[in-house]
Amino acid sequence: MKHPFLAKSYWNQQPTDLAKVFQRAVDTPNLIDLSLGDPDFHTDPRIADAALEDVKAGWTHYTDSLGIPELRKTIAADYAKTHQLHYDINELMITVGACHGTYLALEAILDPGDEVIVPSPHFTPYDGQIRLAGGVPVYLPVEEKDGFQVDPEKMIQKLTNRTRAILVNTPNNPTGACYSRELLESIGEIAEKNDLILLADEVYGAFTYNQPYTPLASLKGLKERTITLGSFSKEYTMTGWRLGYVAAIPEIVQCMRDINEGICFSAPAVSQRAAMKAIELKSEIQPKLKEIYRQRMIKAYQLINNTPYFSVTEPQGAFYMMVNCKETGYSSEQVMLKILEKAGVLMLPGTAFGDAGEGYLRLACTVTEEVMEEAFDRIKKISWS
Ligand SMILES: Cc1ncc(COP(=O)(O)O)c(C=O)c1O
Repeated sequence: MKHPFLAKSYWNQQPTDLAKVFQRAVDTPNLIDLSLGDPDFHTDPRIADAALEDVKAGWTHYTDSLGIPELRKTIAADYAKTHQLHYDINELMITVGACHGTYLALEAILDPGDEVIVPSPHFTPYDGQIRLAGGVPVYLPVEEKDGFQVDPEKMIQKLTNRTRAILVNTPNNPTGACYSRELLESIGEIAEKNDLILLADEVYGAFTYNQPYTPLASLKGLKERTITLGSFSKEYTMTGWRLGYVAAIPEIVQCMRDINEGICFSAPAVSQRAAMKAIELKSEIQPKLKEIYRQRMIKAYQLINNTPYFSVTEPQGAFYMMVNCKETGYSSEQVMLKILEKAGVLMLPGTAFGDAGEGYLRLACTVTEEVMEEAFDRIKKISWS
């Protein structure tokens, strides 16, 4: 939008595809929303109750700018117990969600023009965040026929003398792919050989269905060069609390802290306290949540593959799927609009996650199985000829 009060650098900025879609969806009666990555469950009431008490007890102030030491200790202990991965508390910074952490990490590591390799389709904000930090995203298309897995040979072809980092998001949003330990080792080898930093976005680590989740930093020799991005949003259904963390070498953590002093200083005190309670309840919360998403993914898989013109590969992780809509003969955006208009069902066009998403719709399993059934009953009635 052009306005004299706006910086000229933003005059040509276009609303994102997501913003356009949401505007259209608002007026759709009986909308079934399969678009959002926001779980349909509220935060566990035990976490909410503890947080209320904490607010009354005076947890209403700024905290240490790296985050409450007790929370950092709790996260470190959880990594040590679950993955035998050992962090000192000066290797952890609490952030206002993983998005904030990703941006701070990129700011800390990128010089102008530095390139970041991003397997694509990709989580939409990466593009803007890399550019805001002065970097250049270099997209590495991944394909459905390969289970949306990265091909290390193709990754090597993307390397230049400006490559600084590789972004590894597994379990993946939007594809639902989970990278195997062998693939992570191959990516690690590429990083080691070329002295690159690994940005490991592992915010869906709790949700893998066919294989155990392996934090990238837990692989031999990779901890030093890996910046791990974590979040309480999805793993504990706490999106609105805006709480995440970054684990990295102390030098990077210190630099991020310094950058953040000019941005928001510290993450909300009450959310940090709530995160401590969440970890305490982890074994009660996460297995149930994982089972619900697993069931929903299986249901969605069956429904999609029973719907003419649509198909999907077997679910692997997170709670997303890329629904192949190529047989309709329409573009992703056209299919998304037709489904919205004729069936009142909202999914996101794959292109909202980069050009490599053409031919797909992204479905989020953040509704019940019954609602998903209703959605596909409606979609089946659409004529595509
Ligand atoms: C891959 C990925 N990374 C990071 C985030 C951001 O999480 P947070 O809510 O902690 O900012 C999301 C949220 O959808 C995501 O899908």
